[in-house]
Amino acid sequence: MGKPIVIALDGTSASGKSTNAKLIAKALDYAYVDTGAMYRSLAWHCLKKGVKLENVKAIASLCRRWKTELRNDDGDIHLYVNGYFPEKEIRTAETSAAVPSVAAVPAVRKWMKAKQRECVQFGNLVMEGRDIGSNIFPETDFKFYLEAALDVRTKRRAADGVDENLAERDKRDSQRAAAPLMIPLGARVINNSKMTAEETSTLIINEVRERLEEAE
Ligand code: DC
Repeated sequence: MGKPIVIALDGTSASGKSTNAKLIAKALDYAYVDTGAMYRSLAWHCLKKGVKLENVKAIASLCRRWKTELRNDDGDIHLYVNGYFPEKEIRTAETSAAVPSVAAVPAVRKWMKAKQRECVQFGNLVMEGRDIGSNIFPETDFKFYLEAALDVRTKRRAADGVDENLAERDKRDSQRAAAPLMIPLGARVINNSKMTAEETSTLIINEVRERLEEAE
């Protein structure tokens, strides 16, 4: 068996990364990694431990010490914290508000990079995030960057029952010093404002299949 294939799926909030990553992983039988969930888990852990979000040193120190383990739950790679995956807790408004502070800490990003690269132990991957093609797996040949118009993304979030200032979130994600959101070198950019998730994922699946066949 050759080296595991990593499909890097980056993009702005509500650009359809999760929906598409899951569809692609299912169609190709690859494992799925939601890196946002890993940052959310650390944010949740910080809140639980009473670490102040402006205390960069305390966040970095907690990140170095927390007891975690990667597990493959039916094709979804999850980061367990003290033997527990906080699936619901990481989606609360409180955790969502805390995560950008945690994600901006350089020591956290370094830890996450090592952990995310460890995921290849589970085989071929579809990994979604903000810096997967640019920073975590810059060597992969399969990089996609999803984007959609702000009003379309706002409507998508509202349909999920979430009222969020996405323009503000985009700004925070793209302007932070550590691994900002950017279009990775060599990524195929897909604006899916007028596309369904099925159309977007089919485009990506077909391109990956074609390129893998060419490489055979
Ligand atoms: O994709 P998401 O909404 O679950 O991401 C949560 C937060 O984590 C968001 O503020 C962006 C940040 N994030 C990041 O900085 N790098 C990643 N690879 C994934 C998410």
